[in-house]
Amino acid sequence: MDPYALEAVERITTRPAEPYETITVDTITPLIGAEVSGVDLNEELTPQQEKEIRAAFLDHHVLVFRDQDLTTERHKRFAALFGELHPVALPEEGSDPHILEIRATKESRAVAGNGWHADGTADAEPSLGSMLHITTVPEGGSGGDTLFANMHLAYELLSPAMRTFLDGLTAVHDGALPWMGQPIPPEYDVPRTEHPVVVRHADTGRKLLFVNGPYTSHITQLSRSESTALLDMLYAHVARTPLLQCRVRWQPRTLVFWDNRCVQHHAVWDYFPHSRYGRRVAINGTRPQA
Ligand code: SIN
Repeated sequence: MDPYALEAVERITTRPAEPYETITVDTITPLIGAEVSGVDLNEELTPQQEKEIRAAFLDHHVLVFRDQDLTTERHKRFAALFGELHPVALPEEGSDPHILEIRATKESRAVAGNGWHADGTADAEPSLGSMLHITTVPEGGSGGDTLFANMHLAYELLSPAMRTFLDGLTAVHDGALPWMGQPIPPEYDVPRTEHPVVVRHADTGRKLLFVNGPYTSHITQLSRSESTALLDMLYAHVARTPLLQCRVRWQPRTLVFWDNRCVQHHAVWDYFPHSRYGRRVAINGTRPQA
């Protein structure tokens, strides 16, 4: 590994500032993800539990809570501790505007999130994070894992020269891109926003790489061919660097809370024709800043 990459791993490895007293936090890797136990999300959290969950969220970016028998209302109440709920972009008629159903069956020809991405980055204010509660896992108990990748580390692993170059750039994120030529519903007010390529996390101020395949259309300051070459290099860096990643295996009643500001995720569709089902609640974020 390059010396600056070794330094980045050393710097990014999570060492909690204070020991946890009311929850247990078991890391998935030293660089991303943790399983949190000792808390029932159906119950009102104590101030100390809430403080420790917030600290663990900022430290690990992806928190996994097992055996959570949550109603929709409890799920939304837990999410609301972190901010206002983020409305679903295209809610089905008569459905809860804050619940996105994640559903795959033998009739599915595509599933949500089957590729590296962050959610809704074409919005001026993409979500802070999402909480996905899976209730049905594929028959046989394996398959349907979700991968997560740490975008702080994706940035820090680049050479100092590349980081300096990216620091001054902006990119257009276009909500029409994920439709890939399919007709866009007329009621969808397609978002399109220019964001810095490198932004700072709203809570920690740490830098991270903020481009993703489904939404980022081009880098504003470059020619189209330069932009495509650079974005392809960055996407390959995220996809081909296991060091950045962790993999969550779902069980029924697992809730995962990920930080959409500094994490990309990829839902693996390896279980066709079996079914997988869950509900996702997202939390409002703020405009990403360089
Ligand atoms: C998504 O939010 O992109 C889907 C995640 C998943 O199904 O695991």
